[in-house]
Amino acid sequence: MLNDVAKVLIDSATLQKRVAEVAEEISRDFSGKEVILIGVLKGSMFFIADLLRKISIPVILDFIGTSSYGVATTTSGAVKITKDLEEDIEGLHVIIVEDIVDTGLTLNFLISTLAPRKPASISVCTLLDKTAHRRANIPVRYRGFPVEDSFVVGYGLDFKDRYRHLPFVCTLKEQVHERQRAK
Ligand code: PRP
Repeated sequence: MLNDVAKVLIDSATLQKRVAEVAEEISRDFSGKEVILIGVLKGSMFFIADLLRKISIPVILDFIGTSSYGVATTTSGAVKITKDLEEDIEGLHVIIVEDIVDTGLTLNFLISTLAPRKPASISVCTLLDKTAHRRANIPVRYRGFPVEDSFVVGYGLDFKDRYRHLPFVCTLKEQVHERQRAK
């Protein structure tokens, strides 16, 4: 698995430090408010787990599952819900937690799906912000790191559902992509 790594872009210590900063910002901004963190499955799992443990105000946790149609490494455009929320979000301050915003189509869909449920507000918190191919104008309130236009994995992010458990954010060697293309 480590042999497949081309370059570590964000190491574990840097991730943890930044996650703690974002958690502090959220705790300050939403002090005294009723907050629900909504993790978008599956990619946000490590980020939201670390973020939640650093947040110092009471928050509710829930998850929503989405998937873009198709299996390409670029988003095809159409999004569907694979697992809905368990909580009623009416009157709550919603913070949607993502591992990465790329085209923005997933969040665009999520925001328009959740807004009619009458939350007090909707904010977006993403670990990585990749703006090179943005197709929807997403108001990202909390951003861990900007990322260049490269395919990244680790700390929740996958390639063909693998590499999520790498403790850092990295790129994969070209041969890994080639191997997959040859299948
Ligand atoms: C990834 C990521 C975001 C979305 C971002 O999810 O977790 O939800 O793509 O892309 P976009 O801004 O172009 O819409 P993916 O569908 O790969 O599922 P996963 O989180 O289970 O890996």
